Amino acid sequence: METVREVPPLRDRVRRARASGRTIGFVPTMGALHEGHLSLVRLARQESAFSVVSIFVNPLQFGANEDFSRYPRKEGDDAAALAREGVDVLYLPNPAAMYPGDFSTSVEVRGVSEGGEAGIRPGHFRGVSTVVAKLFLQVAPDVAVFGQKDLQQASVVRRMIRDLDFPIRLVVGPTVREPDGLAMSSRNGYLSPDDRRLAAAFPRALFEGRDRAARGERDAANLTESVRRELEAAGLPPDYVDAVDPETMAPVEVAAPGTALVAAVRIGKTRLIDNVPVP
Ligand code: PAJ
Repeated sequence: METVREVPPLRDRVRRARASGRTIGFVPTMGALHEGHLSLVRLARQESAFSVVSIFVNPLQFGANEDFSRYPRKEGDDAAALAREGVDVLYLPNPAAMYPGDFSTSVEVRGVSEGGEAGIRPGHFRGVSTVVAKLFLQVAPDVAVFGQKDLQQASVVRRMIRDLDFPIRLVVGPTVREPDGLAMSSRNGYLSPDDRRLAAAFPRALFEGRDRAARGERDAANLTESVRRELEAAGLPPDYVDAVDPETMAPVEVAAPGTALVAAVRIGKTRLIDNVPVP
């Protein structure tokens, strides 16, 4: 695995791989890699012959009172894990080169960026779509792999790819969970042992909502209300619980196969998000 920190050598490596007939797969991350990230790396390796992974804790997508400065940074461990997976290039952009002082451009995907997480994290998806557009133009992959775990992010990226004609195929990988159901996240490490035990109630409430839908409950308000009640009973009052169309992220009234139950909870200072598709 080669580690590159600048755009010209990155472009050079990718150009050479493409010239030798290989397709390029790309997984953007913010590091502190866990099995969820590595599952996407494996997907990228299946879907393409040359793989690039980026690690960049993107300041643009963090709000003023969020965890940018304490976000976990584990470059050495991450690089070792990616090398073991057979990744070809690890791209570690230099923050000053990504965002020079007079950086002035943003990519805003209206509509799909607006509900859900955006209500609590204004500007978050503008930061995501802007950095993902930059990374796409720098890496120029054929295939980009994102996780279902961040459903709204994947929907924003899908819409941006379509609207701006990025010649990139989006692949969305399933959510990888801990044995008790909690979706893996770089932020789970913030939880104290007690809070970590409490957190298992979060996926459990979503799974119960999903099972209720499987048993025939199609009224979205009833479904979200039952998930909300479960969360409150467990001591995890949610920021939101919605039943949405994953393409648009718009709330639905009637849940159909593919509708996603999406929710966010706060445990102490840590926010967790998760979602499950309705069968
Ligand atoms: P990060 O949170 O590091 O996540 C990188 C990718 O891993 C995302 O596509 C995310 O959905 C996926 N992922 C996270 N947890 C997962 C899990 N448990 N199972 C499967 N996939 C999982 O998302 C970001 O970084 C950033 O917003 C980024 C896209 C890199 C832009 O800065």
